Amino acid sequence: MFTESCGIVTLPPLLAPSLLAGDHAHLADSVRLAEDAGVTWLHLDIMDGHFVPNLSFGPQVVAALRPLSRLFFDTHLMLSEPHRYVEAFAKAGSDSISIHIEPEYDHCGTLKHIRDLGCKCGLVLNPGTPATAVEGFLSEVDLILVMTVQPGFGGQPFRAEMLEKLRLLSRWRNERGLRFRLEVDGGIDLETGLQCRQAGADTFVAGTSFFAAEDRDAFARTVAAW
Ligand code: DX5
Ligand code: ZN
Repeated sequence: MFTESCGIVTLPPLLAPSLLAGDHAHLADSVRLAEDAGVTWLHLDIMDGHFVPNLSFGPQVVAALRPLSRLFFDTHLMLSEPHRYVEAFAKAGSDSISIHIEPEYDHCGTLKHIRDLGCKCGLVLNPGTPATAVEGFLSEVDLILVMTVQPGFGGQPFRAEMLEKLRLLSRWRNERGLRFRLEVDGGIDLETGLQCRQAGADTFVAGTSFFAAEDRDAFARTVAAW
């Protein structure tokens, strides 16, 4: 499954449009736009107004969208107490659930709970959190999500200093023979995404840039060719 790309060993690229940048009065239409562009993943941003200073949507919305789409629901929980909600999102139809490393809770137990619920599990790092914070969990997760903006809002500029963190995580993955996906989220477009690809990322969340793109099919094809 691992291939050589841009001089590094990595997984095939995946684009995950973020529904946060979709049309919230017609979310089903936005899901369809993503599906029609030929992607296989959809990124769902869940915010609690506490861990991040914004609110988005909850498991009821995810459950309502589930029967409308076959996309892989990549669920990013920006919650102070994610362990209290993983079951609700699994039941709602999430395929993958990612939880932040920063809040205090039983990270290991929650990752196991997510897996026991039949979902893939991921850990997320804010820009200020060093890669070492997740180093001990790398063999326990299907995905590491490196935030390339401070989470809470779409449309923020990409933070290029995160490339170093990606290079380090990518190196650890290769050296240790691990298989987790390395995902980036925040300010990703065809230029910043390619920089992340060259630093070892394989999974690209794009909100504003994807939904505002004139030709979303071409956007998806470009990422698939990285
Ligand atoms: C940020 C969210 C992102 C956001 C990305 O808090 O986690 O997924 O939707 O949006 P863009 O691509 O617009 O930066
Ligand atoms: Zn996100």
